[in-house]
Amino acid sequence: MVPTRPLSEVVSEFCGHALLLRMVRIHVVIGGVGRLVPLLVLLSALSSPLAAEDPSLIISRFQEYLRINTAQPKPNYRQAADFILAQASSIPLESKSFEFVDGKPVVILKWPGTNPRLPSVMLYSHTDVVPVEQSKWDHPAFGAHVDQEGRIFARGSQDMKCVGMQHLEAVRQLKRSGFEPVRTVYIVFSPDEEIGGHDGAGKLAESEVLREMNVGVVLDEGLASPNEKYRAFYGERSPWWLVIKATGAPGHGAKLYDNAAPENLFKSIETIWRFRTSQFDMVKAGLKAEGEVISVNMAFLKAGTPSPTGFVMNLQPSEAEAGFDVRVPPIADPVSLERRIAEEWAPISRNMTFELKQKIAVHDHHGKPIITATDSSNPWWALLEEGVRKANGLIGKPEIFPASTDCRYFRLLGLPAIGFSPMANTPILLHDHNEHLDKAEYLKGIKVFESIIKTYTSFVGDSSKESFRDEL
Ligand SMILES: *[C@@H]1O[C@H](CO)[C@@H](O)[C@H](O)[C@H]1NC(C)=O
Repeated sequence: MVPTRPLSEVVSEFCGHALLLRMVRIHVVIGGVGRLVPLLVLLSALSSPLAAEDPSLIISRFQEYLRINTAQPKPNYRQAADFILAQASSIPLESKSFEFVDGKPVVILKWPGTNPRLPSVMLYSHTDVVPVEQSKWDHPAFGAHVDQEGRIFARGSQDMKCVGMQHLEAVRQLKRSGFEPVRTVYIVFSPDEEIGGHDGAGKLAESEVLREMNVGVVLDEGLASPNEKYRAFYGERSPWWLVIKATGAPGHGAKLYDNAAPENLFKSIETIWRFRTSQFDMVKAGLKAEGEVISVNMAFLKAGTPSPTGFVMNLQPSEAEAGFDVRVPPIADPVSLERRIAEEWAPISRNMTFELKQKIAVHDHHGKPIITATDSSNPWWALLEEGVRKANGLIGKPEIFPASTDCRYFRLLGLPAIGFSPMANTPILLHDHNEHLDKAEYLKGIKVFESIIKTYTSFVGDSSKESFRDEL
């Protein structure tokens, strides 16, 4: 449905504040907010708490979402958004779809709290998934087949359609039970996380829409845990994509001489590999977690003079290049790493140059690590543990996510953002062949989110300390 009222009015009504929109192009789809009102009245008239729902229905809704092919590079965002909007009206929840970038909807569902002045709780997930090599899978990657052991096979079953649907199902169940949140809950579904999130979380983070949501805490994705403890993440490593290049005098393939480009490059590769080993050894020895060390992995190696049949074999090339995916934890010192790159990995004295093709900030604008506090300065961490405990679960010690998630856009704004995907006793299969999730574990995760949402939305603590901090 296309809005007939001015956009600003529509958005401010949704967000609960007056608002001036500064975004250039936003397309708003109203999920029938107007029509919801009589329906809500009707539902509250029959407000006796309803019994829990048949689990097979819950699983079939999850399967329906998994069957929508949202794999990069051509995700079917339209179908995913339509599905989510339909779910929203069945619960019912207010809903809107914002296209900060054409064809890339950010769908936002709202469950208003009884005290809308308190900062809200944002349950965040991304709708896209990584591509599949179907021939390596035992079941169709978008079939959501359930095997005899109860495992649901699909791309996105762990990363992270499970979490998005669990957010929805937890809210659906809490509403059915008659629970009333004090804080407002937003469930957000974003595009493009798997390709960097710039057109999804990135645009949302810089929008007035997010300001008006007055978010107090964000829950986004974590990782499966192979043991019985859930994992929760307070920071993540920043990708630095490093290319080093060596030049040297070209020469006959038969001549022995010093400082040829491949030799210069290999001296660097040896140095980089010693560093890599020192980092990896700490992980192997159990002294550090994977997310706490600087990882370095080679992405490409490039040299040689092409010929019609391959490469010229009797010529030593004058240039040689290598590319590395370097991941820098927020607790590392980015200045000393950059000095190490300049002085040891690509020294000018060896005729080497380097370029950081991507360099995501490790520190914020105040030079502080971009992390969410896990101590008493951040009530949301203890409340998460409390919520999980009340659902008979346990969380391991706070971790740094080894790769990137959309959390970084929210942490950069100063918002507490926690990575949490409730999958215990589950092999880590994100981006892997045969990605799957156990049915019972999925259903248990819904219970865990119900408990967290109850704990979070009932918390009325000192709101002056946790208001929206815009540090940009
Ligand atoms: C660097 O390049 C210069 C000029 O081509 C050359 O004279 C020198 O030997 C090179 N040094 C190394 C270490 O490759």
